[in-house]
Amino acid sequence: MEPLEEAAPEGLAPAEIEAAVSVARRVADNIRRAVEVRDNVIQHVMVAMLAEGHILVEDYPGVGKTALARALSRSIDCQFARVQCTADLLPADIVGTNVYNQREARFEFRPGPIFANVVIVDEVNRASPKTQSGLLECMQERHVTVDAMSHELARPFLVFATQNPVEYEGTYPLPEAQVDRFMVRLSLGYPDAGAEAIMLAGHESGDRVLDLEPVTDRAEVVDAVETAHRVHASRALRDYIVALLRRTREDDRVELGASPRAGLMLLRAAKARALVSGRDHALPDDVQALAEPVLSHRLMLAPEAAGVTREEIVRDAIAAVPAL
Ligand SMILES: Nc1ncnc2c1ncn2[C@@H]1O[C@H](COP(=O)(O)OP(=O)(O)O)[C@@H](O)[C@H]1O
Ligand SMILES: [Mg+2]
Repeated sequence: MEPLEEAAPEGLAPAEIEAAVSVARRVADNIRRAVEVRDNVIQHVMVAMLAEGHILVEDYPGVGKTALARALSRSIDCQFARVQCTADLLPADIVGTNVYNQREARFEFRPGPIFANVVIVDEVNRASPKTQSGLLECMQERHVTVDAMSHELARPFLVFATQNPVEYEGTYPLPEAQVDRFMVRLSLGYPDAGAEAIMLAGHESGDRVLDLEPVTDRAEVVDAVETAHRVHASRALRDYIVALLRRTREDDRVELGASPRAGLMLLRAAKARALVSGRDHALPDDVQALAEPVLSHRLMLAPEAAGVTREEIVRDAIAAVPAL
């Protein structure tokens, strides 16, 4: 097996690594000023930002999902948009539409909110399946086709979708194929007593998220994203990811295991985590730290797998596959 830390083909300069670490640190610190949230949740948000992945936050009402998304979007000096999903939201309300310009006697494209850099899609499971698929398709493709004309989306482009747990009435749970398009799924959980008290105290002076100022801009984020692409991943590390994916597919308790797309996203996420940690190469530790938030939402459990969670399946795969 090749050594883990072989030389990167095109090494990253220390200044490039520093710049990316600094962007992630400023954004993370800024979010923490307004939202009480566990450190690993913020780390996963930073990973998704640098790996150009989309984020699905799934949790009960009132735990700060929308606040977290707004805090992230305010931290980057860029265009952001928020879409509140309802059953009558149409695909065109998200992607945009061609409107007729009387004076010039021609149609012109009026872009929808998906053309912003950071797009909060709140309560995505309240949108109809047709609207969900319109949204998720352009998330993946990074362009929009309306009346046979294609329009590129902005860069950076980050969708931050929230959803309440699926047992709520009048919702359309995202199908597996759609959920697969999110790089990470996070849940926030309830804050501990100390953090909750701090939150209450902070709120007495108004909405803390509205007080946040941008701490970085589009160009810095795009540079950091490009640096993350160039983080080195050894052949052995890629083989490790493949072995983890295969393990989830072979597990008897799993009906549908992790897809090849899941593996690509895990690799990209691991590289971004390496960069955020100040390294020019990804390690098994990066893969292990991200396997749960990146893989678990894509697994479909077998009907006979009563009592086991998808997170446990991922943890078992990590325990079963030797890490290089
Ligand atoms: N963890 C948290 N940190 C900071 N504020 C929070 C947190 N949880 C809830 N809040 C505050 O409570 C209110 C509801 O939060 P919100 O983000 O809208 O919840 P959700 O989107 O999960 O239903 C907001 O005013 C928000 O600022
Ligand atoms: Mg909300």
